[in-house]
Amino acid sequence: MARTAIEALKPGDVLKTDVTAGDGRFLMPRGAQLSQNHIRYLEGFGVTAVDIEDDARDPAEIAARAADPEVRALSGDYCRERFALVDRSLPAAAALFDLCVTRLAWRIAAKGDGFLAKPPIEEQIRQMPAGLRENTGAPGELLSRDVKLVSLPEVFLRINQALQDPASTTGHIADLIGMDPSLSAILLKIVNSAFYSRALRAARHQFPAKVDSLSRAVALVGSSQLGVLALGVSVLSRFDDIPAGLIDMKSFWRHSIFCGILARMLAEKRRASEGEHFFVAGLLHDIGRLIFYRHYPVLSGETLVAARVRKMSLTEAEREIMGFDHAVIGGLLLKKWNYPSSLEKSVRFHHEPGAVLIIDEPAVVHVADCITVALDMGSSGECLVPPLIPEAWDNAGVAPEELSPLALAAMGQCDEIFAAFFPDEA
Ligand SMILES: [Fe+2]
Ligand SMILES: [Fe+2]
Repeated sequence: MARTAIEALKPGDVLKTDVTAGDGRFLMPRGAQLSQNHIRYLEGFGVTAVDIEDDARDPAEIAARAADPEVRALSGDYCRERFALVDRSLPAAAALFDLCVTRLAWRIAAKGDGFLAKPPIEEQIRQMPAGLRENTGAPGELLSRDVKLVSLPEVFLRINQALQDPASTTGHIADLIGMDPSLSAILLKIVNSAFYSRALRAARHQFPAKVDSLSRAVALVGSSQLGVLALGVSVLSRFDDIPAGLIDMKSFWRHSIFCGILARMLAEKRRASEGEHFFVAGLLHDIGRLIFYRHYPVLSGETLVAARVRKMSLTEAEREIMGFDHAVIGGLLLKKWNYPSSLEKSVRFHHEPGAVLIIDEPAVVHVADCITVALDMGSSGECLVPPLIPEAWDNAGVAPEELSPLALAAMGQCDEIFAAFFPDEA
């Protein structure tokens, strides 16, 4: 394996192993293709040498092709369309746009431009089984009709109760989680992933090997944080019957997981103590869309077509066609489940964080969602980057030069968390 001094790195080099700082902080994932900015970023953290691939597909050639004016122009045109609703005079939006143009130019240079052509949405919708005409009514009526969705399995009800009971002991939540073997397995995989690499390194003396029991997981993450993660995981199995054709579920969960990882990183940057809350808020932010896709597949098809054809945001199309948007119904579902109110508000207000007095959590999810859509990391159906809310960006405190390393670090964690949730599909 080639160990390369930081001074000898060139843009286009590909990392062979994850890079961490001296204090264990995760910096960049293996597989990342380095730009000059990335190299400077690593230097800034005191990294002196890294392992790089010596057999990567001629990275210099890919770098040259990515810089080709024709490739840049193609990437720029595509990104301009996706940023149609965004005010790019905002510095954060301009930085996000530049990052997306560069990333897309790299993808085109490495893979060709075939992946840019998507089948027309109308064709996708036509392939769906015909449905009955649907009347949405009020959001509350919709949920009261779905008894299966509204009633959570016993184990999650009890975890939720324990989380909100100040008298509950640390061991109690671990015991409850332990009642569900598949939940325990998912949580242990997450706790052993790059998601917790920093905490794992810091606690090396305590956990010399893998965290292989819930009691160790609780010691590392904290029982209430593990309980919140369990509540997030519980939702996945509630939506395994979405009609095919409307949404690629793998892509939906990738979007959700990436948004959750970014939300957690943004929260960590602001030194918020409950990172798992932010992860779960990101994970669940668009679940209202799954309720739409399941109950109103025909109207959902219409919203997808309207958003694409009229170049409007899918959220706006939902308001017009359904009468309310996915954030309203998602927030309401979390309320029915009695989930912590911070989670409910993050989901309910992620497209309008200014609507609540304390905008912190919804604002973080809003920013994470905008970056996730912009980078095309999975999709919940939205094609256009949501209009960025300047106050939310100010609140998140992401400097333009931090965007690229932040996105890269999140990409490095996404596959592992996805594999923990869906081991058969990763
Ligand atoms: Fe959303
Ligand atoms: Fe989203």
